[in-house]
Amino acid sequence: MSFDDAISALSKDALRFVRDNSVLGLGSGRAATAFVKELGRHLKEKDLTIKAVPTSLQIKLVAEDAGIHVIDAGQVHKIDAVFDGADQIDAKKNLIKGGGGALLRENILISAAKQVVIMADATKFVKYFNRTIPVEVHPFARSTAKKFIEKLGGLPILRTIERGYPFITENGNIIYDCDFGTIRTPRPLAQKLKQIAGVVEVGIFTRRPDVIYKAREDGRFEILA
Ligand code: A5P
Repeated sequence: MSFDDAISALSKDALRFVRDNSVLGLGSGRAATAFVKELGRHLKEKDLTIKAVPTSLQIKLVAEDAGIHVIDAGQVHKIDAVFDGADQIDAKKNLIKGGGGALLRENILISAAKQVVIMADATKFVKYFNRTIPVEVHPFARSTAKKFIEKLGGLPILRTIERGYPFITENGNIIYDCDFGTIRTPRPLAQKLKQIAGVVEVGIFTRRPDVIYKAREDGRFEILA
């Protein structure tokens, strides 16, 4: 038994939050992928109709493969439920998001959703955030925003892919993964980072999720409110 078994089990359980004729937001990453695959099977089995807004090309491809009706965010005014993973979850249920670079679209859907369901393995749960914060920055602000992040006490490292090419988000921006050490008060830090000109999104999400699934290494899972 492993985390993967637990993620697969909790993905099945999370299907109970899917309502017929609803609009769903699909997060990105491994947990979201496991859920979307289960969702595709579930919709066929139960003959349910939903529309889904994907937060990235990654999850869009998974959703299309699973036979899910994918639409653009601009076509809907409401999102009934979002299903997503997280990079870290602190004791107050704040989230770090953006490990896969989809933070802007994830935050747009999470902010608009009636219900937010987060799925993550036990290694992601901490008392205080202690990993880097993804900050999406318009390339024009590459130097200026970096300076401001440093002034706030962060160490911004440009996210790169193979051979040093900058990682470019689906919105055409760069990402600084910013080391602020241990973060005891994430909300004011997120606010200050968001005020920097050229910062498009910050990977600290302070909307408390409605449901949090915690995958355990023994293949089982817990639900935290
Ligand atoms: C995508 O940008 C992220 O916010 C993901 O939701 C996050 O990185 C969690 O991904 P995993 O489920 O792959 O760990």
